[in-house]
Amino acid sequence: MIIIKTIKELKNIIRSNKKQGHSIGFVPTMGFLHEGHLSLIRAAKKENDLVVVSIFVNPTQFGVGEDFEAYPRDLDNDAKVSEAAGADVIFNPSINEMYPEKYQTYVEVLEITNKLCGLSRPTHFKGVTTVVNKLFNIVEPDRAYFGQKDAQQVAVLQKMVLDLNMNIDIIPCPIVREADGLAMSSRNTYLSPEQRNAALILSKSLFTAKDMINKGGREAAEIKETIIKMINSEPLAAIDYVEIVDALSLNDIPTLKGSILIALAVKIGKTRLIDNIRAEV
Ligand code: PAF
Repeated sequence: MIIIKTIKELKNIIRSNKKQGHSIGFVPTMGFLHEGHLSLIRAAKKENDLVVVSIFVNPTQFGVGEDFEAYPRDLDNDAKVSEAAGADVIFNPSINEMYPEKYQTYVEVLEITNKLCGLSRPTHFKGVTTVVNKLFNIVEPDRAYFGQKDAQQVAVLQKMVLDLNMNIDIIPCPIVREADGLAMSSRNTYLSPEQRNAALILSKSLFTAKDMINKGGREAAEIKETIIKMINSEPLAAIDYVEIVDALSLNDIPTLKGSILIALAVKIGKTRLIDNIRAEV
């Protein structure tokens, strides 16, 4: 496995792989890799000849006062674990390599970015679509792998690829959870033991919602109320949102039908965590 720092070098590698007819699988990340990321790399390895993993903490997707500086970083360990999972190339550019002085171009998906996480993070998705667009232009992947924990991100990127006629398959991969249900996230590292315990309320409330649906519950308001009550019973948790929406459009649905997504964001202390479940009704 090799670590590449410049766009020019990576483009040369991509060009020579394309010439040989190799397919390219791409796993964009911000590093501090955990089992969730590694499951994406393993999935990419199964379906592609060359697996590229980007590790770039993208400043444009962090809002003012968010955790850009504090975001955990560990390139040495990332290199070790991604190689073991099957990565061939790590792309780890500097900020200046991605956003040189006088950088001016942004890519924005409208409507579906104005709900759920977009309400409390109004500039976040513009940063994500911009950097992913740039990375797609550099890596030219056949397939790109994203974790379903960031369900809105997946929906936004699917819309971007569709609207901009990009020949890239977005492959959503299942959420990877710790044994006790906590969805894996690089931000879990911010949690004290007491906060980590409190954070279990996210998955517990979602699993309860899933039970209600399995038992025939179809009223979104009733399911939402149960989730909110459970989370509010945890003193360290503060709800940002709990929403029950259509999984594709992310529009609210009063009565559950089709592919639905129950998504939530909750602050545990200063750490904002997200989680979700999907259901076919
Ligand atoms: O999901 C992430 O880690 C980031 O949003 C992504 C897709 C790597 C873009 O910076």
